[in-house]
Amino acid sequence: MTTFDDLPRVTLAHVPTPLEALGSLREQFGGPRVWIKRDDCTGLAGGGNKTRKLEYLIAEAEAEGAQAVVTFGALQSNHARQTAAACARRGLACDLILAPAVARTADDYERSGNLLLDDLLGARLHRLSPGQKAQAMLEDVLAQHAAAGRRAYVIPTGGSNATGALGYVRAAREIAAQCRDRGIYPAAVIHATSTGGTQSGLLAGFRLEGLSTRVIGINVYTPNSADLATRIEALTAEVLARLAPGMAPAPLGVEVVDGFLGDGYGVPTEAMAAAVRVLASGEAVLLDPVYSGKAMAGLLAMLERQAFVEDDDLIFLHTGGAQALSVYTSAFAGG
Ligand SMILES: Cc1ncc(COP(=O)(O)O)c(C=O)c1O
Repeated sequence: MTTFDDLPRVTLAHVPTPLEALGSLREQFGGPRVWIKRDDCTGLAGGGNKTRKLEYLIAEAEAEGAQAVVTFGALQSNHARQTAAACARRGLACDLILAPAVARTADDYERSGNLLLDDLLGARLHRLSPGQKAQAMLEDVLAQHAAAGRRAYVIPTGGSNATGALGYVRAAREIAAQCRDRGIYPAAVIHATSTGGTQSGLLAGFRLEGLSTRVIGINVYTPNSADLATRIEALTAEVLARLAPGMAPAPLGVEVVDGFLGDGYGVPTEAMAAAVRVLASGEAVLLDPVYSGKAMAGLLAMLERQAFVEDDDLIFLHTGGAQALSVYTSAFAGG
């Protein structure tokens, strides 16, 4: 019988990532104990949550005989940077199709941060102009690989399909083991959600571990969170069907929380900037302006309004992204 540990996976991440106490939050807000799961420390050229997904995606690419990988993202995509790093590590060519998804001209948004790293990591960058379609660019890139006799493997935005989500099933198992070792029963894991693979993997993983831990995704991506929740529900069901085909369907309780996106994906908010400062100055933990900073703003707001009980243990999943801090200097001006 194939077990979860037999699934094809390449080793890219430094795991287990630390699970650390965020003591200063309890001092400041009272209430539950808050822990931070340091997936910003997965180690692959800056790390972040995509590294775990890429362990399964790159294994699938290699099993299919691919010599090249193509993926998509915003100009400052962490997923794109980690894909470029995974390809560099595995000796694969990497094409990144990058969209100007964020209306930002200030700072070094179009040159520095993750974009600089993508280039250093040896990826070919295909920058779309406003209105240009990613699909047309993809076809062009695939045709170039085909003409050169190279097989290419395409990873969807954010690595969020049933293969990529396996990385977070594995993370859920890791969290469950760390909590067992410390005698913690986590009431909830809170994290930034955008393309949904992280949340789906965690939901499926906790279900398979028999844990009722809530997975609370702070929406940092879309004004239409109902669609995002539907997508997460479908992807979780797909992952569970793959890993436990006989498991009886039960409500998954997908929780996508609104109120922290601000004016849109990648657009800074005051609450994000404040949350980044709280964690940096209080804990020496660097969050990011697009994902984990907004997710932490969500958690701080929940702590302020006492959304959890005193005796709860909560885990904030740090999904990475600090490589983009320096292209958002104006968001932190005057702090
Ligand atoms: C730093 C960071 N946090 C969170 C996320 C969201 O993860 P997911 O796309 O799996 O919802 C991303 C994805 O782009 C990310 O780069």
